[in-house]
Amino acid sequence: MQVVEANGARIPLLGLGTWDLRGRTCARIVEQAIRLGYRHIDTAEMYDNEREVGEGLRASGVPRNEVFVVTKVWPSHFAPRELMRAAKESTLKLRLSEVDLLLLHWPNPRIPLADTLDALCKVKEAGLARHIGVSNFTVALIEEATRLSSEPLVCDQIELHPFIDQSKVRGACAAHGMAVVAYCPIARGNAKNSGVLARIGEPHGKSAAQVSLRFLVQQQIVVIPRTSKLERLTENAAIFDFELSRDEMAEIGALAHGAGRIVDYALSGPPQWY
Ligand SMILES: NC(=O)c1ccc[n+]([C@@H]2O[C@H](COP(=O)([O-])OP(=O)(O)OC[C@H]3O[C@@H](n4cnc5c(N)ncnc54)[C@H](OP(=O)(O)O)[C@@H]3O)[C@@H](O)[C@H]2O)c1
Repeated sequence: MQVVEANGARIPLLGLGTWDLRGRTCARIVEQAIRLGYRHIDTAEMYDNEREVGEGLRASGVPRNEVFVVTKVWPSHFAPRELMRAAKESTLKLRLSEVDLLLLHWPNPRIPLADTLDALCKVKEAGLARHIGVSNFTVALIEEATRLSSEPLVCDQIELHPFIDQSKVRGACAAHGMAVVAYCPIARGNAKNSGVLARIGEPHGKSAAQVSLRFLVQQQIVVIPRTSKLERLTENAAIFDFELSRDEMAEIGALAHGAGRIVDYALSGPPQWY
Protein backbone atom coordinates (compact mmCIF):
# COMPACT_ATOMS: atom_id res chain seq x y z
CA MET A 1 0.00 0.00 0.00
CA GLN A 2 1.37 3.41 -0.97
CA VAL A 3 1.73 5.90 1.88
CA VAL A 4 2.00 9.65 2.30
CA GLU A 5 4.65 10.81 4.75
CA ALA A 6 3.66 13.83 6.78
CA ASN A 7 5.37 15.22 9.87
CA GLY A 8 6.49 11.78 11.02
CA ALA A 9 3.32 9.87 10.08
CA ARG A 10 3.05 7.33 7.26
CA ILE A 11 -0.58 7.49 6.15
CA PRO A 12 -1.81 4.86 3.66
CA LEU A 13 -3.09 6.69 0.54
CA LEU A 14 -6.28 4.63 0.43
CA GLY A 15 -8.55 4.27 3.44
CA LEU A 16 -12.11 3.17 4.07
CA GLY A 17 -14.66 5.77 5.20
CA THR A 18 -17.24 4.44 7.65
CA TRP A 19 -19.67 7.30 8.23
CA ASP A 20 -23.22 5.93 8.25
CA LEU A 21 -22.08 2.28 8.37
CA ARG A 22 -23.63 0.59 11.38
CA GLY A 23 -23.82 -2.75 13.18
CA ARG A 24 -23.09 -5.98 11.29
CA THR A 25 -22.74 -4.16 7.95
CA CYS A 26 -20.01 -1.96 9.38
CA ALA A 27 -18.06 -4.82 10.99
CA ARG A 28 -18.35 -6.97 7.83
CA ILE A 29 -17.28 -4.18 5.45
CA VAL A 30 -14.29 -3.26 7.65
CA GLU A 31 -13.25 -6.93 7.90
CA GLN A 32 -13.54 -7.44 4.13
CA ALA A 33 -11.81 -4.17 3.27
CA ILE A 34 -8.77 -5.12 5.36
CA ARG A 35 -8.74 -8.62 3.86
CA LEU A 36 -8.75 -7.01 0.41
CA GLY A 37 -5.73 -4.86 1.26
CA TYR A 38 -7.12 -1.61 2.73
CA ARG A 39 -4.71 -0.52 5.46
CA HIS A 40 -6.43 2.62 6.75
CA ILE A 41 -9.85 2.88 8.39
CA ASP A 42 -11.56 6.19 9.17
CA THR A 43 -14.12 6.41 11.96
CA ALA A 44 -15.25 9.04 14.50
CA GLU A 45 -16.82 9.30 17.91
CA MET A 46 -19.82 10.85 16.14
CA TYR A 47 -20.33 7.88 13.75
CA ASP A 48 -21.34 5.65 16.66
CA ASN A 49 -19.59 2.65 15.08
CA GLU A 50 -16.17 2.49 16.75
CA ARG A 51 -17.12 -0.81 18.44
CA GLU A 52 -17.96 -2.39 15.07
CA VAL A 53 -14.85 -0.95 13.42
CA GLY A 54 -12.76 -2.64 16.15
CA GLU A 55 -14.67 -5.91 15.63
CA GLY A 56 -14.04 -5.82 11.88
CA LEU A 57 -10.36 -5.08 12.45
CA ARG A 58 -9.93 -8.10 14.74
CA ALA A 59 -12.02 -10.38 12.51
CA SER A 60 -9.77 -9.58 9.52
CA GLY A 61 -6.89 -11.47 11.15
CA VAL A 62 -4.44 -8.81 9.94
CA PRO A 63 -2.00 -7.73 12.70
CA ARG A 64 -3.07 -4.56 14.48
CA ASN A 65 0.14 -2.68 13.64
CA GLU A 66 -0.46 -3.11 9.89
CA VAL A 67 -3.67 -1.07 9.87
CA PHE A 68 -3.80 2.72 10.32
CA VAL A 69 -6.84 3.49 12.49
CA VAL A 70 -8.18 7.06 12.61
CA THR A 71 -10.88 8.46 14.85
CA LYS A 72 -12.12 11.96 15.66
CA VAL A 73 -13.31 13.86 18.71
CA TRP A 74 -16.60 15.71 18.36
CA PRO A 75 -16.43 19.50 19.05
CA SER A 76 -18.74 19.32 22.07
CA HIS A 77 -15.87 17.46 23.78
CA PHE A 78 -13.11 19.98 23.10
CA ALA A 79 -12.79 21.25 26.68
CA PRO A 80 -9.51 19.72 27.94
CA ARG A 81 -10.91 17.21 30.45
CA GLU A 82 -13.70 16.19 28.09
CA LEU A 83 -11.23 15.65 25.27
CA MET A 84 -9.09 13.25 27.30
CA ARG A 85 -12.23 11.37 28.39
CA ALA A 86 -13.55 11.17 24.79
CA ALA A 87 -10.20 9.88 23.51
CA LYS A 88 -10.12 7.18 26.21
CA GLU A 89 -13.68 6.18 25.41
CA SER A 90 -12.89 5.88 21.69
CA THR A 91 -9.95 3.55 22.38
CA LEU A 92 -12.11 1.51 24.75
CA LYS A 93 -14.86 1.13 22.14
CA LEU A 94 -12.33 0.21 19.46
CA ARG A 95 -10.63 -2.10 22.01
CA LEU A 96 -7.25 -0.66 21.07
CA SER A 97 -4.55 0.63 23.38
CA GLU A 98 -4.00 3.55 20.98
CA VAL A 99 -5.27 4.89 17.66
CA ASP A 100 -2.86 5.81 14.88
CA LEU A 101 -4.37 9.25 14.38
CA LEU A 102 -6.79 11.34 16.42
CA LEU A 103 -8.44 14.36 14.77
CA LEU A 104 -10.41 17.36 15.97
CA HIS A 105 -13.57 16.71 13.90
CA TRP A 106 -14.69 20.32 13.30
CA PRO A 107 -13.47 23.65 14.66
CA ASN A 108 -15.29 24.87 17.76
CA PRO A 109 -15.04 28.67 18.17
CA ARG A 110 -16.60 28.45 21.65
CA ILE A 111 -13.51 26.83 23.18
CA PRO A 112 -10.03 28.40 22.92
CA LEU A 113 -8.06 26.46 20.33
CA ALA A 114 -4.93 26.71 22.50
CA ASP A 115 -6.66 24.75 25.31
CA THR A 116 -8.00 22.11 22.94
CA LEU A 117 -4.63 21.61 21.24
CA ASP A 118 -2.89 21.42 24.58
CA ALA A 119 -5.29 18.64 25.56
CA LEU A 120 -4.86 16.91 22.20
CA CYS A 121 -1.07 16.91 22.69
CA LYS A 122 -1.55 15.45 26.19
CA VAL A 123 -3.65 12.65 24.67
CA LYS A 124 -0.71 11.86 22.40
CA GLU A 125 1.79 12.09 25.27
CA ALA A 126 -0.43 9.72 27.30
CA GLY A 127 -0.03 7.16 24.50
CA LEU A 128 -3.66 7.11 23.36
CA ALA A 129 -2.82 8.41 19.85
CA ARG A 130 0.37 7.94 17.82
CA HIS A 131 -0.35 11.07 15.78
CA ILE A 132 -2.72 14.02 15.96
CA GLY A 133 -4.37 16.25 13.36
CA VAL A 134 -7.40 18.32 12.44
CA SER A 135 -10.42 18.21 10.17
CA ASN A 136 -12.43 20.93 8.45
CA PHE A 137 -9.84 23.55 9.39
CA THR A 138 -9.56 26.66 7.20
CA VAL A 139 -6.26 28.29 6.18
CA ALA A 140 -6.48 30.73 9.11
CA LEU A 141 -7.16 27.91 11.57
CA ILE A 142 -4.30 25.80 10.19
CA GLU A 143 -1.96 28.75 10.71
CA GLU A 144 -3.21 29.24 14.26
CA ALA A 145 -3.17 25.53 15.12
CA THR A 146 0.34 24.88 13.81
CA ARG A 147 1.58 27.89 15.79
CA LEU A 148 -0.09 26.73 19.00
CA SER A 149 0.52 22.98 18.92
CA SER A 150 3.56 21.59 20.74
CA GLU A 151 3.25 18.33 18.74
CA PRO A 152 3.23 18.12 14.94
CA LEU A 153 -0.18 18.07 13.25
CA VAL A 154 -0.05 15.47 10.50
CA CYS A 155 -3.13 16.27 8.40
CA ASP A 156 -6.24 18.28 7.71
CA GLN A 157 -9.14 16.04 6.65
CA ILE A 158 -11.35 18.09 4.32
CA GLU A 159 -14.03 17.67 1.68
CA LEU A 160 -12.19 17.12 -1.59
CA HIS A 161 -13.24 15.72 -4.98
CA PRO A 162 -13.09 16.99 -8.57
CA PHE A 163 -16.04 19.37 -8.11
CA ILE A 164 -14.57 21.52 -5.33
CA ASP A 165 -11.51 23.80 -5.31
CA GLN A 166 -9.54 23.44 -2.08
CA SER A 167 -6.26 24.83 -3.41
CA LYS A 168 -5.88 27.40 -0.60
CA VAL A 169 -6.24 24.84 2.22
CA ARG A 170 -4.03 22.43 0.30
CA GLY A 171 -1.38 25.14 0.03
CA ALA A 172 -1.49 25.78 3.78
CA CYS A 173 -1.14 22.04 4.49
CA ALA A 174 1.83 21.78 2.14
CA ALA A 175 3.50 24.77 3.79
CA HIS A 176 3.30 22.99 7.16
CA GLY A 177 4.20 19.50 5.95
CA MET A 178 0.68 18.24 6.64
CA ALA A 179 -1.08 15.64 4.51
CA VAL A 180 -4.44 16.38 2.92
CA VAL A 181 -7.02 13.65 3.53
CA ALA A 182 -9.99 13.86 1.16
CA TYR A 183 -13.43 13.04 2.51
CA CYS A 184 -16.32 12.62 0.06
CA PRO A 185 -13.63 11.68 -2.52
CA ILE A 186 -16.31 10.41 -4.93
CA ALA A 187 -18.64 13.31 -4.09
CA ARG A 188 -21.00 11.03 -2.12
CA GLY A 189 -21.44 8.85 -5.20
CA ASN A 190 -22.06 11.77 -7.57
CA ALA A 191 -18.79 11.15 -9.43
CA LYS A 192 -20.55 8.35 -11.27
CA ASN A 193 -22.94 10.89 -12.86
CA SER A 194 -20.13 12.90 -14.42
CA GLY A 195 -19.89 12.43 -18.20
CA VAL A 196 -16.35 13.84 -18.20
CA LEU A 197 -15.08 11.38 -15.57
CA ALA A 198 -16.81 8.47 -17.32
CA ARG A 199 -15.33 9.43 -20.72
CA ILE A 200 -11.84 9.83 -19.29
CA GLY A 201 -12.14 6.46 -17.54
CA GLU A 202 -13.22 4.55 -20.65
CA PRO A 203 -9.86 4.09 -22.43
CA HIS A 204 -8.31 3.11 -19.08
CA GLY A 205 -11.07 0.55 -18.45
CA LYS A 206 -12.01 2.44 -15.26
CA SER A 207 -15.28 3.82 -13.85
CA ALA A 208 -15.98 7.50 -13.15
CA ALA A 209 -15.62 6.81 -9.40
CA GLN A 210 -12.18 5.26 -9.97
CA VAL A 211 -11.11 8.29 -12.04
CA SER A 212 -12.24 10.61 -9.23
CA LEU A 213 -10.13 8.66 -6.72
CA ARG A 214 -7.14 8.37 -9.08
CA PHE A 215 -7.22 12.14 -9.71
CA LEU A 216 -6.67 12.63 -5.97
CA VAL A 217 -4.13 9.91 -5.16
CA GLN A 218 -2.05 10.92 -8.19
CA GLN A 219 -1.57 14.25 -6.34
CA GLN A 220 -0.57 12.44 -3.12
CA ILE A 221 -3.93 13.22 -1.53
CA VAL A 222 -5.19 10.49 0.81
CA VAL A 223 -8.69 9.20 -0.07
CA ILE A 224 -11.20 7.52 2.24
CA PRO A 225 -14.16 6.43 0.06
CA ARG A 226 -17.06 4.72 1.83
CA THR A 227 -19.21 1.93 0.51
CA SER A 228 -21.66 -0.51 2.04
CA LYS A 229 -21.22 -2.88 -0.93
CA LEU A 230 -18.52 -5.54 -1.08
CA GLU A 231 -18.06 -5.30 -4.88
CA ARG A 232 -17.38 -1.56 -4.62
CA LEU A 233 -14.61 -2.17 -2.07
CA THR A 234 -12.67 -3.87 -4.86
CA GLU A 235 -13.59 -1.19 -7.42
CA ASN A 236 -12.52 1.68 -5.15
CA ALA A 237 -9.18 0.01 -4.38
CA ALA A 238 -8.28 -0.63 -8.06
CA ILE A 239 -6.81 2.84 -8.57
CA PHE A 240 -3.09 2.14 -8.48
CA ASP A 241 -2.73 0.29 -11.79
CA PHE A 242 -3.30 3.19 -14.20
CA GLU A 243 -2.16 6.76 -14.65
CA LEU A 244 -4.03 9.85 -15.83
CA SER A 245 -2.20 11.98 -18.39
CA ARG A 246 -1.36 15.62 -17.82
CA ASP A 247 -4.25 16.65 -20.12
CA GLU A 248 -6.70 14.33 -18.33
CA MET A 249 -5.62 15.73 -14.95
CA ALA A 250 -6.12 19.29 -16.25
CA GLU A 251 -9.58 18.49 -17.63
CA ILE A 252 -10.66 16.97 -14.31
CA GLY A 253 -9.11 19.90 -12.44
CA ALA A 254 -11.37 22.24 -14.42
CA LEU A 255 -14.56 20.55 -13.11
CA ALA A 256 -14.39 22.44 -9.78
CA HIS A 257 -17.10 25.07 -9.41
CA GLY A 258 -18.41 27.43 -6.74
CA ALA A 259 -21.40 25.28 -5.80
CA GLY A 260 -19.44 22.03 -5.58
CA ARG A 261 -19.34 21.76 -1.79
CA ILE A 262 -21.51 18.96 -0.37
CA VAL A 263 -20.93 19.27 3.39
CA ASP A 264 -21.78 22.89 4.10
CA TYR A 265 -23.00 23.98 7.49
CA ALA A 266 -23.43 27.50 6.13
CA LEU A 267 -26.37 26.08 4.16
CA SER A 268 -27.95 24.09 6.97
CA GLY A 269 -27.69 26.65 9.78
CA PRO A 270 -25.44 26.69 12.84
CA PRO A 271 -23.95 23.36 13.92
CA GLN A 272 -25.90 21.55 16.62
CA TRP A 273 -23.10 21.31 19.17
CA TYR A 274 -23.18 24.96 20.27
N1 LIG B 1 -14.21 14.86 8.69
C1 LIG B 1 -15.46 15.07 8.32
O1 LIG B 1 -16.12 16.04 8.70
C2 LIG B 1 -16.10 14.10 7.36
C3 LIG B 1 -17.27 14.45 6.68
C4 LIG B 1 -17.81 13.53 5.78
C5 LIG B 1 -17.19 12.31 5.59
N2 LIG B 1 -16.06 11.96 6.29
C6 LIG B 1 -15.38 10.65 6.11
O2 LIG B 1 -15.11 10.46 4.73
C7 LIG B 1 -15.71 9.24 4.30
C8 LIG B 1 -16.10 9.35 2.84
O3 LIG B 1 -17.04 10.37 2.62
P1 LIG B 1 -18.60 10.08 2.35
O4 LIG B 1 -18.94 8.77 2.92
O5 LIG B 1 -19.35 11.25 2.83
O6 LIG B 1 -18.70 10.11 0.75
P2 LIG B 1 -18.03 9.27 -0.45
O7 LIG B 1 -17.08 8.25 0.05
O8 LIG B 1 -17.56 10.26 -1.46
O9 LIG B 1 -19.30 8.55 -1.11
C9 LIG B 1 -20.00 7.52 -0.48
C10 LIG B 1 -21.22 7.20 -1.34
O10 LIG B 1 -20.80 6.78 -2.64
C11 LIG B 1 -21.33 5.51 -2.96
N3 LIG B 1 -20.25 4.76 -3.64
C12 LIG B 1 -19.16 4.17 -3.08
N4 LIG B 1 -18.36 3.64 -4.01
C13 LIG B 1 -18.96 3.88 -5.21
C14 LIG B 1 -18.62 3.56 -6.56
N5 LIG B 1 -17.51 2.90 -6.85
N6 LIG B 1 -19.46 3.96 -7.54
C15 LIG B 1 -20.58 4.66 -7.26
N7 LIG B 1 -20.97 4.98 -6.00
C16 LIG B 1 -20.15 4.60 -4.98
C17 LIG B 1 -21.72 4.88 -1.65
O11 LIG B 1 -22.88 4.10 -1.80
P3 LIG B 1 -22.88 2.50 -1.51
O12 LIG B 1 -22.76 2.33 -0.04
O13 LIG B 1 -24.21 2.11 -2.06
O14 LIG B 1 -21.73 1.94 -2.28
C18 LIG B 1 -22.07 6.11 -0.78
O15 LIG B 1 -23.40 6.49 -0.98
C19 LIG B 1 -16.88 9.07 5.28
O16 LIG B 1 -17.42 7.78 5.25
C20 LIG B 1 -16.22 9.46 6.56
O17 LIG B 1 -15.41 8.40 7.05
C21 LIG B 1 -15.50 12.86 7.15
